[in-house]
Amino acid sequence: MNHSDTEKINLFLAPMEGVTDWVMRDLLTALGGIDQCVTEFLRVTDTIYPDSVFYKNCPELKTKSKTRSGTPVFIQLLGGQSEPLALNAQRAVQLGALGIDLNFGCPAKTVNRHDGGASLLKCTDRIFNIVKTVRDAIPKNIPVTVKIRLGFDDPAQCLDNAVAITEAGATWLTVHCRTKTDGYRPPAYWEWIAKIKEVTKIKIIANGEIWTVDDFKKCKDVTGCTDFMIGRGALRNPYVFSEIQNLNSAEQTTSDFNSDEKNKNLKLIPGFYQACVLFKSESFAIARTKQWLNQLSHNNEYVKNIFDELKILEIPAEFKNQLEEMIH
Ligand SMILES: Cc1cc2nc3c(=O)[nH]c(=O)nc-3n(C[C@H](O)[C@H](O)[C@H](O)COP(=O)(O)O)c2cc1C
Repeated sequence: MNHSDTEKINLFLAPMEGVTDWVMRDLLTALGGIDQCVTEFLRVTDTIYPDSVFYKNCPELKTKSKTRSGTPVFIQLLGGQSEPLALNAQRAVQLGALGIDLNFGCPAKTVNRHDGGASLLKCTDRIFNIVKTVRDAIPKNIPVTVKIRLGFDDPAQCLDNAVAITEAGATWLTVHCRTKTDGYRPPAYWEWIAKIKEVTKIKIIANGEIWTVDDFKKCKDVTGCTDFMIGRGALRNPYVFSEIQNLNSAEQTTSDFNSDEKNKNLKLIPGFYQACVLFKSESFAIARTKQWLNQLSHNNEYVKNIFDELKILEIPAEFKNQLEEMIH
């Protein structure tokens, strides 16, 4: 498959709580291919957050809301009450947010107990009210975007929700093609996107189970979308975005890369560790580095051996020395 010359493919880095913080956004966008990022969610109950919380969630606010390589970052809000969400959205925009993304897809029990995330997928009128209230609260030129799952327990819930989200004035809609009940179990039901497109004209971003270039091609064929969001696949192969964007170029790569290609991912790790130390602390860096190595070790014995050696180390000096010895 080739992208036609005129067809621009837009790729989004999925928000992942505890993973896609400033360091990860900075690193991944520097590798190329990512058109748009979203912060981890900021859970809104009944207060307006102090500015420090927005800056912590989105340090890019200090760099025109773009990563250092120039990729725009929207602030993601999660919650069930429209007024506090609107007030926090207003504040985020005053601080320089380029867009507000509303998350109705979060399956976490604590979030749903507190009336946010995926539990709202059963309440179309409340979703409408939240999106419209936030939309009306901030300037028209600032996008309000929405992320949903197909439904709470019934995928057909996506149709009414997509209509409501459109009528409330959202700029685009990302659909993680599974219900809350599906959790993260494959497959993702991409075919629902075609049905959603029959009921709304807003831009739909397809999300779920895009791990490789081949998955991207299949998802594109099934959905007819030009916009795609990738989450966990970015951790297994940080170059997946540029590989997709390069499909047309001469130096085309595929997901079927050889071991040298695979191990080039490893070369990112020491810089990532160092960036995490600077961002927070050594213990944070150790935890995040183990987390990422674990993902990279999927189907890769060489990386798995390195991960096995490093995962038992807790003392920063030992961890760092071993890391430098094993990866250079
Ligand atoms: C560890 C983790 C954290 C996540 N945190 C968020 C979040 O903060 N907000 C959100 O809308 N989705 C969140 N998601 C869902 C992802 O954005 C995405 O919709 C999901 O992983 C499916 O895409 P994928 O198959 O490409 O990973 C999270 C997923 C994971 C695995």
